[in-house]
Amino acid sequence: MERLWLSLLFLAVACKGQPCPKRCMCQSLSPSLAILCSKTGLLFVPSAIDRRTVELRLQENFITAVRRRDFANMTSLLHLTLSRNTISQILPSAFSDLRRLRALHLDSNRLTVIKDDHFKGLTNLRHLILANNQLHSISPHAFDDFVTTLEDLDLSYNNLAQVPWETVGRLTNVNTLNMDHNLIEDVPQGVFTNLHKLARLDMTSNKLKKIPPDPLFLRIPVYAKSRGSPLSSLVLSFGGNPLHCNCELLWLRRLTREDDLETCASPDDLSAKYFWTIPEEEFICDPPVLTRKSPRTVAMEGQPASLKCKANGDPEPEVHWISPEGRLISNSSRTTVYPNGSLDINVTALKDSGNFTCIASNAAGESTGRVELLVTAVPHLANSTSRSRDPSAEPAPSDILISSKRRVSLVELTGNSALVRWNSQSLSTGVRMFQVQYNSSGDDTLVYRYWLDIDRSHGAILRAVTGDKADGVDNSLMFLWQA
Ligand SMILES: *[C@@H]1O[C@H](CO)[C@@H](O)[C@H](O)[C@H]1NC(C)=O
Ligand SMILES: *[C@@H]1O[C@H](CO)[C@@H](O)[C@H](O)[C@H]1NC(C)=O
Ligand SMILES: *[C@@H]1O[C@H](CO)[C@@H](O)[C@H](O)[C@H]1NC(C)=O
Ligand SMILES: *[C@@H]1O[C@H](CO)[C@@H](O)[C@H](O)[C@H]1NC(C)=O
Ligand SMILES: *[C@@H]1O[C@H](CO)[C@@H](O)[C@H](O)[C@H]1NC(C)=O
Ligand SMILES: *[C@@H]1O[C@H](CO)[C@@H](O)[C@H](O)[C@H]1NC(C)=O
Ligand SMILES: *[C@@H]1O[C@H](CO)[C@@H](O)[C@H](O)[C@H]1NC(C)=O
Repeated sequence: MERLWLSLLFLAVACKGQPCPKRCMCQSLSPSLAILCSKTGLLFVPSAIDRRTVELRLQENFITAVRRRDFANMTSLLHLTLSRNTISQILPSAFSDLRRLRALHLDSNRLTVIKDDHFKGLTNLRHLILANNQLHSISPHAFDDFVTTLEDLDLSYNNLAQVPWETVGRLTNVNTLNMDHNLIEDVPQGVFTNLHKLARLDMTSNKLKKIPPDPLFLRIPVYAKSRGSPLSSLVLSFGGNPLHCNCELLWLRRLTREDDLETCASPDDLSAKYFWTIPEEEFICDPPVLTRKSPRTVAMEGQPASLKCKANGDPEPEVHWISPEGRLISNSSRTTVYPNGSLDINVTALKDSGNFTCIASNAAGESTGRVELLVTAVPHLANSTSRSRDPSAEPAPSDILISSKRRVSLVELTGNSALVRWNSQSLSTGVRMFQVQYNSSGDDTLVYRYWLDIDRSHGAILRAVTGDKADGVDNSLMFLWQA
């Protein structure tokens, strides 16, 4: 009886629209149409699919690519299953007509990257299942079309070391987030703050050493397992990570929850102990202790200098540098601050002379040290005058001014270049390089140095000196002619 009923249905479908694809089952439960083609040996998405289909199951086949035409015009499709195929390629806009699609199952395939255009057009997507692929990269805008509708995102069992956290932070409707069994090392602080509906977060088996406190975790009760936990709670799983159990994880230890099997990986005295059995007072940090710093350093003006400060502590201290004038030094065209505590000054200036302060800090405290730098002047053959430019005068007249009281003269000037000429007799010996200093309020002093490998009898052309940083800053130039 049931078989007869089914055949009648097939007949109905066949009469009304597309025939049912070979070896598939087509169910027309009016008004919706479901096409079931699992385990049918398909190598492609069949082309003879009724475009009014509401549910399409293509799992356990051998499909390798999803093409633009495969799901074209299927504006009624709500549920698409492509699990357990061998899909390694999604062509751009392959899903772009599926504007009503609610669930997309792509688990157990061979995807390695998700690009910005792969999921374009899925404006109603609720469930996106990408588990068990080989994903190592997800573009930051790949989920943009459904960032506020998505309820369920499964990225588990992939190779993700990086997650587009900024995107995750915008999934305001998400209820379940599975990121377990990846290679994630860091979770940025506060990323879950706006995910008010989050009920399950699985970070099991990653490479997390710490989990930053998140307002979300502190606002709602967190439990290890769903069984018996109150409805409005968050189920957080983070076992199988190499947790570093110091004071930074104290917040997590203080959450009330059932015992679970998370263990600590470090420090040594807590390694392999169960997280929830360690007393709170054993989650400790050590304040920084400066172990090494540079002695008094002397550099010739224009030469590089490297200042070092090394500190130990738990967690690993961060080192910041304060200039003699009391400014925090950041990376610029002239200075590099390395995570290991070294400060490199690429081209020293006289004004760098003084006492630099390094500050090593971590969650437990800070420690400071002083390193003295002495920059000695080099003799200048000639120098320039300088002036500030009126930033409103565009296009700019040249900033470059040279006093020709010495043996150099300026013959051509544009907004970003200058032709400098000199008398070959008077300067052909001795001059090996020149230096341009460009004052920028935005980036400290920029220094450009040029070695003279050009025709000495005719002069030098300086180009593109002011172009990039010139807007609205105090951009005067100084030429130092150095013997
Ligand atoms: C989709 O619809 C357009 C316009 O109606 C038509 O030209 C095109 O052939 C259709 N594509 C498929 C694969 O049905
Ligand atoms: C330091 O100077 C070298 C050589 O002049 C240059 O290649 C390098 O980019 C400079 N570093 C920075 C941070 O500007
Ligand atoms: C400065 O640059 C160095 C080298 O490129 C880098 O390692 C360091 O993280 C940068 N520091 C900051 C604060 O961006
Ligand atoms: C810190 O790193 C920089 C760049 O990798 C290196 O030049 C410097 O010697 C290092 N400093 C120390 C103290 O290890
Ligand atoms: C650095 O500080 C020491 C001690 O206060 C002082 O003697 C020295 O003159 C300072 N160095 C510079 C270059 O200001
Ligand atoms: C530039 O030259 C004038 C005299 O010609 C000198 O007084 C001044 O200190 C020099 N400036 C620099 C930065 O060398
Ligand atoms: C560059 O700026 C500093 C302060 O910002 C100022 O003291 C110095 O005179 C300026 N140099 C030139 C050549 O304008």
